Amino acid sequence: MCGIIGYVGRSQALPVLVQGIRLLSYRGYDSAGVAVHDGTTLRIEKDRGRISDLAPRWDPATLAGSTGIGHTRWATHGAPNRVNAHPQSDAANVVAVVHNGILENDLALREELEKAGVTFRSDTDTEVFAHLFARDGGKDPVAAARELLDRCHGHFALAFVHADHPERIVAVRRGSPLLLGLGVRENLVASDLRALAGRADAVVELGDDQIAIVEADDVRVLDKSGSDVEVVRRPVEEHERETDKAGFAHFMAKEIHEQPERQYELVHGRMDTVRGHARFDDLPLQAADWKRIERVDLVACGTAYHACLYGAYALERLARIPARALMAHEYDARQPRLDDRTLVIAVSQSGETADTKVAVELALREKARTLAVLNVPHSAIGRLVEGVVDMHAGPEVGVASTKAYTGMLTSLLLLALAAAEARGTTNDEARELIAALDAVPDAIRRTLARTEGVVADVVREIYRAGNMLYLGRGPDAATALEGALKMKEISYIHAEGYPAGEMKHGPIALVSFDMPTVAIATAGPWRDRMLGNVREVKARDGLVVLLAAEGDVDAPKVADFVLPVPSLPPLLAPIVNVVPLQVLAYETAKRRGCDIDQPRNLAKTVTVQ
Ligand code: F6R
Repeated sequence: MCGIIGYVGRSQALPVLVQGIRLLSYRGYDSAGVAVHDGTTLRIEKDRGRISDLAPRWDPATLAGSTGIGHTRWATHGAPNRVNAHPQSDAANVVAVVHNGILENDLALREELEKAGVTFRSDTDTEVFAHLFARDGGKDPVAAARELLDRCHGHFALAFVHADHPERIVAVRRGSPLLLGLGVRENLVASDLRALAGRADAVVELGDDQIAIVEADDVRVLDKSGSDVEVVRRPVEEHERETDKAGFAHFMAKEIHEQPERQYELVHGRMDTVRGHARFDDLPLQAADWKRIERVDLVACGTAYHACLYGAYALERLARIPARALMAHEYDARQPRLDDRTLVIAVSQSGETADTKVAVELALREKARTLAVLNVPHSAIGRLVEGVVDMHAGPEVGVASTKAYTGMLTSLLLLALAAAEARGTTNDEARELIAALDAVPDAIRRTLARTEGVVADVVREIYRAGNMLYLGRGPDAATALEGALKMKEISYIHAEGYPAGEMKHGPIALVSFDMPTVAIATAGPWRDRMLGNVREVKARDGLVVLLAAEGDVDAPKVADFVLPVPSLPPLLAPIVNVVPLQVLAYETAKRRGCDIDQPRNLAKTVTVQ
């Protein structure tokens, strides 16, 4: 969703801001803008559109200056157009502000300001901040920022430049993430580490209700009462610096191909190969705690929710704990019964998803135990929970999640194995999984190599389809849902995933020659039943793409296309099975000429409910 970049230093701000906006683009946006102070005048340029079209229209001579802020907007309040794009300003244009998040008492504050004679130009909630800050921001920026924190409800990350202070950015944070990037004789502000790439060696994470005064040689952080707070610097780690596509046409392709390596690192980081068990000594949940847990609720959205479906399956099957996957945005509506014998596990790539964060807050209020499986441990959710399992997928830039999904599956499986050991339920299935975990990276590598040619043939057949069906059973029901989500979000083909047993209860009515079905029949006791479902589709003239274990001699007899994957135990298969479905979605989207890394209407990080 929206992104913030700010720069104050000795270089020209505009190129830094444009580069920052480019790096933030993956989050999804519909308009962008910059404000630059040249020491005398504060100038704003903004409009609807992509940065590649906008930046050439921004004149470096007019927008000269070493202090500035930039923004990518994903419209919530008001249409995506020039007026509503950020930066927003007050009537006299002395303040420019960029904002991520939502001002909840926007209407009340607007009314109050209008009564005091302010005329609003935009439909945005952001403009309220500009008018409020304009009152005192010149004389006393800390007092002005404190007033905002007092009067404004909701969650927001804000960066202001005031005409009277060309050497300074004022940043304010409540809820939405905001980082200060520390460079050499320059400092930056950003909503996302990625926007700081190449310029900051260390970052300061602004805490909730904190204010930062950022200048080229100095950074000061204050709390809501105006007292100075210790500035805690964290070096930017090597793996957090990745920014390029490494020769791939899209980030999504790069991230799909990174999966073998990421899986290897994840498994080897957590497995004690000598004793054959998963190590989670860093978590506050130890053996006695696992024994006390009576239920696990896994909460997440989208792809991460699909990982929760799998995780609930693994926890229940291996550790014998009742476990359920719940969409985070539906969690509070059911008023879940929670106490300290319930473990709530939030699963999130970004660690910033608003709905998932709210579900965690509910769990904390009700005194449930909390863990999170995250790709960004230093994130809003990471800060809330008792313990974090870092999936170590590395930065994921493509909007469609790929390597984070397989990172979530493996993390949850390792957690389930550790829980099984703690609860004394480790059985032959668990031992077989532990022994086979090492095979996953190579199985993904082989799958990528072997399915490439078949996928090209499948794409030729399906790329004009209007609808698709994905079917799987057991833990691969989650794979079916995830495969369908990948297809719909990047290729815009309507695709639905179902546990295959549901087919006869409705979806079969849709099957016909023009609705391809992708079926997953690689493993376990479900293979035969899956082949039965495939026959039912074929009997109704449907085209079938079948994921089958290498060497399955029946597969080519029942399906139009076979995507072969190495044979693995049923709970490991989903980690590999999803990979050809990612490639299928990717190649189909490419054939259809879609904007793969930034699909329409989607944001990488959904920070509003
Ligand atoms: C789909 C996708 C989304 C996210 C969802 C949750 O490819 O990426 O469905 O999974 O928005 O995001 P995180 O994992 O950041 O909480």
